[in-house]
Parts: sequence; structure tokens; C-alpha cells
Amino acid sequence: FMVDKGNHRHFMEKEIHEQPEVIGHTLAHYLDFVEGRTRDIPLPFDFSQIDRLSISACGTAFLAGSVARYWFERYARLPVDIDVGSEFRYREMPISPNSAALFISQSGETADTLASLRYCRSQGVPIAAVVNVPESTIARESDAIFPTLAGPEIGVASTKAFTCQLAVLAALAVRAGVQRGHVSPEQERELVRFLSEAPRFATAALKLDDQIEKLARELSQVKHALYLGRGTSFPLAMEGALKLKEISYIHAEGYAAGELKHGPIALIDENMPVIVIAPHDRNFDKTVSNMQEVAARGGRIILITDTEGARRATINAMETIILPDVPEIIAPIVYALPIQMLAYFTAVFMGTDVDQPRNLAKSVTVE
Ligand code: G6P
Repeated sequence: FMVDKGNHRHFMEKEIHEQPEVIGHTLAHYLDFVEGRTRDIPLPFDFSQIDRLSISACGTAFLAGSVARYWFERYARLPVDIDVGSEFRYREMPISPNSAALFISQSGETADTLASLRYCRSQGVPIAAVVNVPESTIARESDAIFPTLAGPEIGVASTKAFTCQLAVLAALAVRAGVQRGHVSPEQERELVRFLSEAPRFATAALKLDDQIEKLARELSQVKHALYLGRGTSFPLAMEGALKLKEISYIHAEGYAAGELKHGPIALIDENMPVIVIAPHDRNFDKTVSNMQEVAARGGRIILITDTEGARRATINAMETIILPDVPEIIAPIVYALPIQMLAYFTAVFMGTDVDQPRNLAKSVTVE
């Protein structure tokens, strides 16, 4: 069927704006907001019976899985092993019988992810997949699928599929926590309520478009950019860098903020913008000290934070993108939007083909 851009300039812009709605649809599939419970979704394994979860995916889906690792470990005390499909499939990983495998793919057709799935199949472990296309090969070859209800995604750079993957994975992590006895009924109710607020905060994030567009005008002048974050903001920093390089062709790297001193700090000067993703969470003060290291070397900082974070981070010559204060579990979903918008507007200023960036494909079905 036909999908059109509506009154948007690009599919990517349209898909960014659809997020509050599709995140809400996706969450409602997994969570009962009225009862404050995770739904009893059919699983090919019982979270209380496994001692390890292996996640494999490519590109943006890999970064969604990388965020989910923190969630499964924190809320469900479930150890997670994660790798990109192109490595996982050749690693010859010994798979323990008490593990389960989870694959994440928008298209459900990515060759390396599919090969990783088939490797796990040969090892006899239960297989589940988070997919956006329910009739895809990965969906068909899985024991169970967890659909993202993002609708068709046309822009090559993934946006709404990513936040819907995060929504599914957060709901699954809470479910796993309940099944493993690490999330009490009260905590479950609270986490479900927090998750239910994600669409509203995503809407608030979209309202920052004018400010982000102005920052993007400056960003479009640079050759390199560095993204930093800690905890769940680390994979988000990698996603920010990935988005920027995919559609604006500006070289960007995403780094764990604590690794700054082990290499990238050598690159910092006035010409190197550093985009820091730092909600005011348990890691915030550590990230602020990394920002001070950047500022001391003349680096230009764009801090994406919340009201409390902006109040606490007093660093000169810093731009701040201020989101509302959000519960920790939904921060990666909400913070995804400003990083998508920053890449989007930068690419628009550069005049690139936003929906069809050079050399990239929506679905990579070859090795
Ligand atoms: C390509 C796309 C990315 C996507 C990746 C994985 O590189 O350009 O946007 O994240 O493939 O695709 P999948 O369909 O498996 O999520």
C-alpha cells in the first residue's frame, strides 16, 4: 500500500513526528495501563528459567539492544550478551542450555542477523525476535515474535522503529523482572506508569524543534563531532553519531563518556563539537566532570539534559537542549528524539538526500 509524506518534507521528518503515537500503540500491546501490569505475552522460554540472554542485531537495532542490556541487567538481574550480527554469527559462541536468544530487526531480513538466528537454532536454544515486519524471514524463523507497531518505515535512517524497539524491550525487561522475582507488584505498577508517560514526553521533545534547528545550522559547518554518554546514554550517544554520519555525512563517533580520557580527548579543540547526552540520573555527576575536561580544552559542548541537569551543570560556553525531567526507564526513548532531530536538521542544511542517503540501504540482505 501507499505511504505518503503528508505535509512533511521528508519521510524521516514524518516518522520522527509519528513517534508519540506509535510508541503509545506499541506499549499498549505489552502493558495494561489500567491494571498497571505487564501483559502475559506468550514466550518461548520462561525468564525465571534462563540465566543468560544473547541479543544480536545490526545498525540501529543493535543500539536498541545495547540499551536493553542495561534494562535486563538492572530490572531483571538477567545477564545479557550482545553483539552485532556480523560478529555474532562467526564467533562460535558456546551457548549454554539455559540461555535464550533475542534478535532485533526492523525489516526482519538483515542477512547477518538472520545468520545469527540460524546459528542459535542449530544450538537448540529458544529464539525470540523483536520485528517491525511480522511476515519477514526473521519473524517466521523465530519461536515467538514481539512486534513493534511502528508501521512502515520508509526513511533509510531508522527513527520510529528504534524508539518502538526500545518500548518493547523496556516492557520485556520489566516483565522479566516480574518473572524473576526482582520487580515487586508495586514496582511493576510504578514502572508501567512511567512507561505510559513516554508518548507525552516524546511530544514535549518534538516541541524543541526550533532550537534544535538553530544548533543544527552550526553543526552543519563542522567536519567531525563526538557524542558522549554513560549508562543507557552510551548506546544513545552511538545512535546519535550513527544518525549524523548516515544522513549528513559528517564524521561522528559515539563514546562512553568515561573512555574520553583513553583516546578521543586528544581530538578536542575549538573545532570539535561534543554532544553530551546526560539526563540527571545516577551517572550525571561523572558525565559533568567529563564535560569539564572537554571545556578546559576549548571543546564546544551541546548538552542534552533535563531541567535539573541544566541547573547543575554550570559550564561556560555550553549550549543546552532541555527536556522535561523524565523517569529513568523512559529516558532513552525520550532522548532519542532530540538526537534524531539534530541529525535531521543538520542533513537538511547540508542538502543531502535525507531519506535515501548515499551508499546505504534500508534493508541489507547481503553479507
Ligand atoms: C540498515 C539500515 C539501518 C538498520 C540496519 C538494521 O543498515 O540502514 O537503519 O538499523 O540496516 O536493519 P534491520 O532491518 O535489521 O533493523
